[in-house]
Amino acid sequence: MPSIKTILVWAISFAPSVLSAAVPVKRAISSVVSGTPPGFAGGATGGGNAKPVYPTTIADLKKYLTSKDPQVIVISGQFNFAGSEGTQTLKACNTYQCTPEKGGQAMLNTLNGCTTATYDVKIDTAAYQGINVQSNKTLVGKNGATLNGKGLRLVGVSNIIIQNIKITNLNPKYVWGGDAITMSGTHDIWIDHVETSLTGRQHYSFGQTANHWITISNSFINGKTTNSASCDGHTYWGEEMVGVDDSITWYKNYVYMTNGRSPALSGGTLLHAVNNVFDDNTGHLIEGGDANARGIFEGNVFKNIKTTVDAGFKGKLFGATSANAASCKTALGRNCQANAYTSAPALNRADTAFFTQFNGFSIVGAATADSIAAAVPKSAGNTL
Ligand SMILES: *[C@@H]1O[C@H](CO)[C@@H](O)[C@H](O)[C@H]1NC(C)=O
Repeated sequence: MPSIKTILVWAISFAPSVLSAAVPVKRAISSVVSGTPPGFAGGATGGGNAKPVYPTTIADLKKYLTSKDPQVIVISGQFNFAGSEGTQTLKACNTYQCTPEKGGQAMLNTLNGCTTATYDVKIDTAAYQGINVQSNKTLVGKNGATLNGKGLRLVGVSNIIIQNIKITNLNPKYVWGGDAITMSGTHDIWIDHVETSLTGRQHYSFGQTANHWITISNSFINGKTTNSASCDGHTYWGEEMVGVDDSITWYKNYVYMTNGRSPALSGGTLLHAVNNVFDDNTGHLIEGGDANARGIFEGNVFKNIKTTVDAGFKGKLFGATSANAASCKTALGRNCQANAYTSAPALNRADTAFFTQFNGFSIVGAATADSIAAAVPKSAGNTL
């Protein structure tokens, strides 16, 4: 077998047109990662084949995630951040249907959003802001790896793989109390087999600076919560996809017990939602007020959903059926798989004018909705 160096010399000598300074040399994905990134994040390699490190304390875990070096970080069991940075007193107000004491949420006055009387509340500081993960990182969990009381912030960074962890307990009583995973100004990010639960705010928050080539797969958006803005044990704060020019593959995720933003598809986001199970929503799934948001939904299962598309939705949507499946060829190079519905209104929108915008993206395959209906809820989350 020729060495990597030989291949590079060959590539540079004989195929200069396919290599440019802008395209970094591809590293291999570490063997501690299961599988390879499906869909838009197909180029993500994370920390490549750096020698794995095995932090056992929250301080070491933070150190590796925030260092400048490429890292392959393997964690096992609980990482208990709750209380590790103390508490702080902030102003909050009651703007939702019921108070935290009655299973509701209060809103922190973080963005001066309170229009009613404010009062002091004590929140957990560690949960209030996530760890600022740096570029070229792989984080893989084993043995039920859990970040208790700490989320992850990916801001202005690239090439990150996060697999098989759970993030939970982020000041669930308080809106703005903590996001599980934040992305803003990122590219080449693969989040796989992650469970998020008991968040104060978003399970996934895409900031307004563009996020390119993102895949979230096999993940469990567990909206079952002790404190719900809708006062019914379902979270409102699912997935906030509002970047100016985001591209997101949303694949084989289990979106369970939500009340809104599942997703909020807004800004200029291009979404490919494939083989997900959306189950038990008491408000609405898809919402968003921007005409530039676009999404193809295919091979998904919608089950026990009150409203599939919010009446105020302004973007472009394509919901695949057996009758319109063939029109996906111009977008995906193949037919779509039809969505399936049980006690859920159909996503009966078939905009196709945006299909050319899928050109150049790596497109994940789709299975039939029936074939994934039982499997996705079982495998989603940190089940590897
Ligand atoms: C990440 O790795 C790539 C490829 O080795 C390198 O070009 C880039 O500078 C790294 N990014 C950072 C922020 O270190």
